[in-house]
Amino acid sequence: MATQPIDDRRAPRREEAGPGERTRPPLPLEFREMRLEDLPEVLDIERVSFPTPWSRQSFVNELTDNGYAHYVVALLDGRIVGYSGMWLILDEAHITNIAVHPELRGRGAGDLLLSEMERRARERGINRMTLEVRPSNTPARRLYKRHGFVERGIRKGYYADTQEDAIIMWKEDLGLGRA
Ligand SMILES: CC(C)(COP(=O)(O)OP(=O)(O)OC[C@H]1O[C@@H](n2cnc3c(N)ncnc32)[C@H](O)[C@@H]1OP(=O)(O)O)[C@@H](O)C(=O)NCCC(=O)NCCS
Repeated sequence: MATQPIDDRRAPRREEAGPGERTRPPLPLEFREMRLEDLPEVLDIERVSFPTPWSRQSFVNELTDNGYAHYVVALLDGRIVGYSGMWLILDEAHITNIAVHPELRGRGAGDLLLSEMERRARERGINRMTLEVRPSNTPARRLYKRHGFVERGIRKGYYADTQEDAIIMWKEDLGLGRA
């Protein structure tokens, strides 16, 4: 694995955190927009996170050529530990990618990252968010469900690598106007 170890002593795994783990202090993540110079670290995570990782060129196209795209990195002590992207089209945000460093998973980083994407969508006047997920991806489905996403349909054979269908999920109310 190409990824570097993460110093995660402040972030107990959920099973170590015990009952009421939702009350543990959140990871002190910082967020900012993704830049081209982030791509080596982003690609290290991408390559260990997906059966068919995006190429460097795919990220470059998103960052430089796609006016709808908004990509964000999550930093812990200055190191990139996760990232997510979305397309902001009219009144919809479409999550294209989300991943957390394998050594930090299950400690709420994905939760914080998704909340940050929702906040950034709201900030741009968007109140609906959608994404696709593999039926076999239990951690991601749990994360989305906890965030209020509901399953709205299936795209047959969407994932060419495994011929898996995609579950289409929507969150219709990001809380625009209430926050
Ligand atoms: C999906 C992903 C971003 C979640 O990040 P994370 O930092 O682990 O997220 P959180 O810690 O906030 O929550 C993860 C949820 O998955 C659960 N989970 C973690 N590992 C799990 C496992 N092996 N099996 C089942 N559930 C698991 C956690 O318990 C939590 O659910 P809960 O809140 O209901 O208990 C991360 O797993 C990842 O990068 N996966 C690889 C890339 C990917 O699949 N992206 C999504 C594409 S749609």
